[in-house]
Amino acid sequence: MISKRAQSVSPSETLQISAKAKELSRQGKSIISLSAGEPDFKTPAHICDAAIKAINDGFHGYTMNTGMPELRQAISDKLQRDNGLSYNPSQIVCTNGAKQALGFSLLALLDDGDEVIIPAPYWVSYTEMTKIAGGKPVVVRTNFENNYKITPQQLDDAITERTKVFMICSPSNPTGACYTRDELTELGNVLKNYPDICIISDEIYEYIVFEGDHTGILQTAPELYERTVLINGFSKGFAMTGWRLGYLAAPQSIADAVAKIQSQETSAPSAISQKAGEEAYKNSLEAVYAMRDDFKKRRDFIVEQLNEIEGVQCFKPEGAFYVFPDISAHLNKKTPHGERLSTSTDLCMYLLEEHGLAAVPGDAFGEPEGIRLSYASSMDDLREGIKRLQNGLATLK
Ligand SMILES: Cc1ncc(COP(=O)(O)O)c(C=O)c1O
Repeated sequence: MISKRAQSVSPSETLQISAKAKELSRQGKSIISLSAGEPDFKTPAHICDAAIKAINDGFHGYTMNTGMPELRQAISDKLQRDNGLSYNPSQIVCTNGAKQALGFSLLALLDDGDEVIIPAPYWVSYTEMTKIAGGKPVVVRTNFENNYKITPQQLDDAITERTKVFMICSPSNPTGACYTRDELTELGNVLKNYPDICIISDEIYEYIVFEGDHTGILQTAPELYERTVLINGFSKGFAMTGWRLGYLAAPQSIADAVAKIQSQETSAPSAISQKAGEEAYKNSLEAVYAMRDDFKKRRDFIVEQLNEIEGVQCFKPEGAFYVFPDISAHLNKKTPHGERLSTSTDLCMYLLEEHGLAAVPGDAFGEPEGIRLSYASSMDDLREGIKRLQNGLATLK
């Protein structure tokens, strides 16, 4: 009864780990969860106030399908102010989270069998959204030594006649790595040779960058403007995951195609959330920077602690709120019960069940030698989580 397309889609492994962690917690086990994909802060008060005012003012109806003009103007102004990019508000489509902007962009761009180049480790939904849209994910494994960033050569080698989209995520989920200006310039130089390839640049972690300013591919390769879809949103930087507000900015023809799909599938995101988003972009970013500075302290702590654990290597990521240590030295070892842990999934299940630590296996992100730890948690939980990881790994032989 279920379509082949739906059958080809895997359930989210990050959600599976969280579900297992919750179940163990309900059974009374002490669980430290470093698996969350969301900030542990509350949305800044002035943004909440704007939403409450919208409710009290009776702003309860549908807005324009692509988002209310005032919000799209605020996004256009932000893209000029922060990113030096010019977009007419008509080129912007507001969506139910950046996730929907990504999914609808792929639906707008892909024909059946078109290939999408996805550097691994990748955010879990890229491959599955590609399949839903009828495309074929072409996963390119990257190297720990290069902080898991795709090289121009790797990109060039992956391109075929069927390549339609190159996905890039910086700062990255799951590694936190950011591409430098030079790296983006070089990737842009490769893409300039293939005029039919579109770029989807996921910049949802833009405001959580610790060293210098955020740079996206369009800042270093403006020639790609006519075939790049810029994805962003409010979830991460403003701690607004539950408000479900994201957007894309794209050449008019792509924005129009996405708008058509959106008009038939969901219509605009919540009117209340849109009022909140307008406030977020129009007013001070002080609260955003305070959260970023807090994340930076936790990053410094967790990276230092991880590198002290035997057989664990972790580079210092420049953004987001994840670390992705290489744990390959601990794979294929045996637990005290004699069970062999051959994959990062086995290892994470062992850490969860026997040591009460929830981490996400690298397998979920297409990189079997790592695990993802989120540091969007209190310092106490980070300290305890690291202790559990260390103790858990020490029991393996
Ligand atoms: C890389 C990346 N892109 C997009 C999203 C989706 O964000 P949103 O909550 O706005 O849908 C996430 C959320 O985890 C993410 O990590």
